[in-house]
Amino acid sequence: MKLIGISGALRKASTNTGLLRALREMAPAGVELEINTLHGIPLFDEDVIAASGKPAVVLDLAERIRGADGVIIATPEYQFSVPGVLKNANDWLSICNAPFKWKRTGIVGASAGAMAGTARAQYHLRQNLQGLQAIVMPRPEFFVVHNELKFDAEGNLTDAETRERLEKWFAAFREWVEKKP
Ligand SMILES: Cc1cc2nc3c(=O)[nH]c(=O)nc-3n(C[C@H](O)[C@H](O)[C@H](O)COP(=O)(O)O)c2cc1C
Repeated sequence: MKLIGISGALRKASTNTGLLRALREMAPAGVELEINTLHGIPLFDEDVIAASGKPAVVLDLAERIRGADGVIIATPEYQFSVPGVLKNANDWLSICNAPFKWKRTGIVGASAGAMAGTARAQYHLRQNLQGLQAIVMPRPEFFVVHNELKFDAEGNLTDAETRERLEKWFAAFREWVEKKP
């Protein structure tokens, strides 16, 4: 099984990118998870397309998504919604021959403090992915609150309970990708 991970955060010590690294570590034999960040994607601008075509970095990501059995998006929550870099990337991807069409997609997210653990961002992302024709796993959901207590300074997941929950979520996701309900 070939999976693509996309992080909605750009910073090096991102806990959301850390969630993808933890998932990659726990992938069983026969399951490959390739982690992608959104570095280098320009702001969506149709004048860019008119001047120089669609950016190579976006076309490359679209191809990777197209070739995967499933996609896992790890998103932070910014001001109760999806970070601009992720929405911007999805706007570009939407004009690249529908890479998300019928693509089994899972969402996870980690945020600071005792707020909603990215729930609000995840629900906005589900709506956005509907526009991209992705098929998003309904349940289980995966939220992390208080990421400041559960990851180290480099953004590596250190909390055993969160790792256990993530393992369960990942097993459910792989089964759902395989069954294609
Ligand atoms: C611009 C900005 C807005 C934020 N808004 C929210 C928010 O609405 N809800 C929330 O739970 N955390 C919010 N946070 C805190 C993030 O949860 C925290 O920075 C988190 O670590 C970001 O994910 P990362 O570790 O992957 O970078 C915000 C952070 C920033 C920088």
